Amino acid sequence: MNERQKTSLLSTLGVFCGTITLLCVAVARAQSAPTPVQFDAATKVFRIDAAQSTYVLGVNENGQVQTLYWGKRLSASDHFAAAKAMPGASSFDLPVTTTPQEFVGWGGGLFVEPDLKITFPDGNRDLVLKYVSHSIEGDKLSIVMKDISREVYVTLDYQADAETGILRRSARIENRTDAPFTIEQVAAATWNLPRDTDYRLRYLTGRWAAEWNVQEQPIRPGKTVLESRRGTTSAQNNPWFAIDHNSTSDQDEGSVWFGALGWSGSWQIAIEQDMLQQIRVTGGPNAFDFGYLLKQGDTFTTPAFYGGYSDHGIGGASRLMHRFEIDSLLPHHPTPKLRPVLYNSWEATEFNVDEAGQMALAEKAASIGVERFVMDDGWFGQRKTDHAGLGDWYVNPQKFPHGLTPLISKVHSLNMDFGLWVEPEMLNPDSDLYRKHPDWVLNFAGRPRTEARNQLVLNLARPDVRAYVFGFLDKLLSENDIAFLKWDYNRNWSEPGWPAVAPDAQKNVYVDFVRNFYSILAELRQKHPNVEIESCSGGGSRVDLGVMQYTDEVWPSDNTDAYDRLLIQNGFTYAYTPGVMMAWVTDSPTWVNLRSLSLEYRFLSSMQGSLGIGADLNKWSPADFEKAKQMVAAYKSIRETVQRGALYRLITPEHDSEQSVTETVSRDGNQAVAFAFLHSSRELYPFPRIFLRGLDESAIYRADRFAGELAKDTPAQASGSYWMHHGVDVELRGDFQAAAFTLTRTSASPNANH
Ligand code: GLA
Repeated sequence: MNERQKTSLLSTLGVFCGTITLLCVAVARAQSAPTPVQFDAATKVFRIDAAQSTYVLGVNENGQVQTLYWGKRLSASDHFAAAKAMPGASSFDLPVTTTPQEFVGWGGGLFVEPDLKITFPDGNRDLVLKYVSHSIEGDKLSIVMKDISREVYVTLDYQADAETGILRRSARIENRTDAPFTIEQVAAATWNLPRDTDYRLRYLTGRWAAEWNVQEQPIRPGKTVLESRRGTTSAQNNPWFAIDHNSTSDQDEGSVWFGALGWSGSWQIAIEQDMLQQIRVTGGPNAFDFGYLLKQGDTFTTPAFYGGYSDHGIGGASRLMHRFEIDSLLPHHPTPKLRPVLYNSWEATEFNVDEAGQMALAEKAASIGVERFVMDDGWFGQRKTDHAGLGDWYVNPQKFPHGLTPLISKVHSLNMDFGLWVEPEMLNPDSDLYRKHPDWVLNFAGRPRTEARNQLVLNLARPDVRAYVFGFLDKLLSENDIAFLKWDYNRNWSEPGWPAVAPDAQKNVYVDFVRNFYSILAELRQKHPNVEIESCSGGGSRVDLGVMQYTDEVWPSDNTDAYDRLLIQNGFTYAYTPGVMMAWVTDSPTWVNLRSLSLEYRFLSSMQGSLGIGADLNKWSPADFEKAKQMVAAYKSIRETVQRGALYRLITPEHDSEQSVTETVSRDGNQAVAFAFLHSSRELYPFPRIFLRGLDESAIYRADRFAGELAKDTPAQASGSYWMHHGVDVELRGDFQAAAFTLTRTSASPNANH
C-alpha cells in the first residue's frame, strides 16, 4: 500500500470512529447506570461499569461480538451506537480479520490470533461463531454464540469486580454435535485496546534464582508471544502483561491496560498489533502441542483471563491487582489472614533434618518472635539427598523414630504452629512408588524418561495418581496437627505422554493435569479448612492467579540474597501482592553471590513482603538474636500495612539503579512505611530525597525511623503535603546500606468529611 492509500484508509477509519462518537452522543441517556452490566436491546450494546473503568461490547451486523471500548469510566449519559464490523483492508484482510472481536473462531479467512480452533472428525476445521443469546445476573454477563452450521456453542462469561473494575473473562465450549471433536487451540478471551501506535508492553521474565525481571518494549506491528511450554506456569515468562503509552514516565500517571491469566499449565498470551494498528491481547492454554478431545455432550471451560484498567499508571495497575487478589481471589477473601512470621529449615539443614536438630532450631526461632515453624525437605522416605525418596510419603524412621508428633508438640509448646514441605507431583526413580508404578509418570512408550533433579513428573491427570496424591496428603493432614504445607514442584515436563489413554485423548494431559492439581488443593482445603498452603516451584515458577485461588502465599525465588531480592521483589509486585510474597532472611554471605550484607539490611529487604527467617540460627551470635527480635517486633507493627496496603515504587531498582525505595500506605491511611536501599554511594552525592505518595495532604503524620537515620533537620511531625512535596532525606552512605521509617497519622485531615 502506498502512502496515499494509507492516508485514505486511515481517514476512512477516522470518519468511521468519529461517526460512532457522534452516534454515542446522539443516543445518550441522562440516567446513571443502575447495575454494573447494562444491555441496550435497540443497539445490542452491552456496557459494564465497575470502579473506575468501563467496558463496552456489541453484536455487529454479522453477529460477531465486537469490542467497542475498554478504558476509563465514562459518564452514564454516554451511549454507544450499534457495533459495526470494520471494513476489510483489501482483498487480503477481510472484515473477520480487521474487526476487533471478543472471541473469534478460526474460520472464514481469519489471520489474527484465533480464540478457538477445532478439528472435527470429518476433517472440517472451519468455525464461524455468531451471537445467539445472552443473560445478565448481577455483575455477571454471559453471551452465547454458536457456529453457523454445527452444534458447537460457546458461552462468553464476564464478571466485573466492583472494587477494582477488574473483569474476569472466560469461555465455555460445548460439544452438542454427535461426535467428539478436538480443540486445537483455545483462549479464555481477547482484550482489544483502543487503536493507537504509541504503546509500550511490560512483561515479566526470568529463570531459576532470577525470577521476576520487568521487561519493557514498544509495541510494533507484529506479534509478541509470552508463553510457557513447560506444563506449568514457569518463570521464563509469567502470565501477566501491562500496556501503557511510551511517553509515560511516572509510575503513578497515565493509562494502563493490564491483565493476567489464571492458569498453572502451559499458557500463552499473544500481544498483536494488526494490519490496522489494532492491539489485541489473546490468552489461554498454550497452543503448542495442544489438543483437547471434547466428547459429545461435554463442556470445556477455559481458565480465566483477568483484565483491568488504571489511570494511575503502572503503580495504580499494581495496586488494583493487589487489592483484587486480597479482596476477591485468595482463599478466605475478602479477609485472608495476615501471613505469620515463619521459620524454614531448608538453608540451615538442607536434607539433614532430624528430631533433635529441628527442635533446637524451633526453640531459637521462637525466641525471636517466629509464629510458624516449617520443616523443609528431607523428612520422608529414604530421602538423604535429592536422589531418592520422593514419592514415598512416610515419615523417615531413622530421623523421626517417634513420627512427627514429638516435634509438632514441641513447636506448639513454643507457641508456634507447624508446617511441612511436600512435593506431591514428583517421584525419584529410586523410590518404592516408582518401583511399584513405573507407568504413573509422564512418558512416551519406549522412549527415554528424562530426569531433572533426579526426578520424574507423576501424571496427575490419571485418576489413580490423583487418588494416591490426595490420599497421602489427606492422611498426613488427618494424622498430624499441621497448619501449613509448602507445596513444591521442582522441575518442568519432558516426554508429556499418557500412553494409558487412546492416542487422540493423550494431549488432554495438558489440561487434565492442572485441573486435578486444582481439585486436590480444593478438596484438601475443604476437608482441612485450617491448613494453609504455599505454592513453590523451585522458587517462583508456579505463581499465577489460578493457583492463588487455592494457596495462601507463594515463594517468589530460591535466590535469597537480600540485594538480588530487591529486584526480584520489585518485579513480583507488578503483578502480585506483597501480602503473599514470602521472603526469608538468610545467612551472610549468601550462597548465591557470596555477598555479605548486614542482618539489618537483610531484614529490611524481607520485611517488604511476608517475613520469614531461613538462616542457620545455630550460627547466630547473641547480638544477632537481639537484632532479629527487634526487627521481628518492628515487622509485626507494620505487617498489616505491608501486606494489605497501597504500594508505591518511589525509586525502582530497575535499570541498575543504585537506589531503591518503596512506600506502602495502610488501607485506613493511618500509617505509611518506607524502605530505602543504597547499593553504593558515589562522588559524595547524597541519597536522593524521598517524596512520599498517597498521603492525605492536610493530615499530620509523625515520622519514626526504625532502621538507618533520617536527616537531622527532619521534623518530628508534619503534614501530608510536607512529606509528599518537601520530602525527607535519609542518611545513607557507603555500600549496601538501608533505612526504614514509618509515618503515623496523628491528626485527622480537617477535610476528612468533605
Ligand atoms: C526447592 C525449593 C526450596 C527447597 C528445596 C528442597 O528448591 O524452592 O526452597 O524447599 O526445593 O528440596
